[in-house]
Amino acid sequence: MKLLALCREEEIGEGRARGFVFGKGVSRHDLVVVRRQGGVCVYVNSCPHQGTPLETFADKFLNEDGSLFVCSTHGARFRAEDGVCVSGPCVGKTLVVVPCDVRDGVVFVQL
Ligand code: FES
Repeated sequence: MKLLALCREEEIGEGRARGFVFGKGVSRHDLVVVRRQGGVCVYVNSCPHQGTPLETFADKFLNEDGSLFVCSTHGARFRAEDGVCVSGPCVGKTLVVVPCDVRDGVVFVQL
């Protein structure tokens, strides 16, 4: 398992999310970082319904109050704090959580 610095914590505002795509082939990663109620979570940017990326436009992942991810393909909604789908075609499924840690203001992920 590899520890990778993703971004500075301050780059992700409260109720905001940001996507990160890096690597190639089997080492390609498409991740989304969200800050909700002060905490930072990282998920694989792939809807559990059909495996598409959640967003259509860059970094447009969340509903208006920043509480839910909204899949742009069929509208599934996932809680920002735990990735659980609460409405849409995959209710009860979850986004894949990527283990993360914040150290000295930097968000690290374990890949
Ligand atoms: S692919 Fe996300 S709701 Fe269908």
